[in-house]
Amino acid sequence: MNGEISVSMMCANFLDIGSDLKALKDAGIEYLHFDIMDGAFVPNYTLGPCMLNALRDHTDITYDIHLMVERPEDKLGFFDIREGDFVSVHYESTYHLQRVLASIKALGGRPGVAINPATPICALENVMDDIDFVLVMTVNPGFAGQKLVPQGLKKITQVREMLDKAGKNHVKIQVDGNVSFENAKKMRKAGADIFVAGTSGLFIKGRTIEDAAKELRESIK
Ligand code: DX5
Ligand code: ZN
Repeated sequence: MNGEISVSMMCANFLDIGSDLKALKDAGIEYLHFDIMDGAFVPNYTLGPCMLNALRDHTDITYDIHLMVERPEDKLGFFDIREGDFVSVHYESTYHLQRVLASIKALGGRPGVAINPATPICALENVMDDIDFVLVMTVNPGFAGQKLVPQGLKKITQVREMLDKAGKNHVKIQVDGNVSFENAKKMRKAGADIFVAGTSGLFIKGRTIEDAAKELRESIK
């Protein structure tokens, strides 16, 4: 099974989002990754529910919603979550992780846990039955254009080993942050399945979406 691409919509061209959506569709992109930030859990604001919900009727690409917000359990209702969407919440952002994962599932979403670079993988131990994917942050969340936190590569492999040991081979690993062509190769080798592509691997000055997507696909075969 080849790696899959989830495009970081915070990096898209919102002055001509229709063309970007068409180019992403034509490039066979599997998911649209929406980074939702509340300025509290991470020191930044990006896309909100209105943008995410408004685009729903202009694309049939599956959504991949990354909630970088405090108490996500209180905020799920703001988003038009549909059957089959990936929805990730941060281990570090809630006292009630298992409850919010169960709520995502009840809404028809595919729940995932996101872990920051400094968060140990044992945080996943008691929710492996509740998730369809793990989001291993390969940068500290909040901004595009950052550099890979090197220990993230080893962590991908450790998470894969932990999941497989628990018989959770179906649980995918998503990586988010500085997924460049070069880094993507290493991340794939380390065990990543879904690659969040932003300014490092897709929206690159002087390159078309089609052209960058082709090169990124080569890196994640
Ligand atoms: C981090 C952001 C970035 C972004 C990807 O919170 O989520 O990972 O989507 O952008 P680049 O490719 O610039 O890291
Ligand atoms: Zn993200």
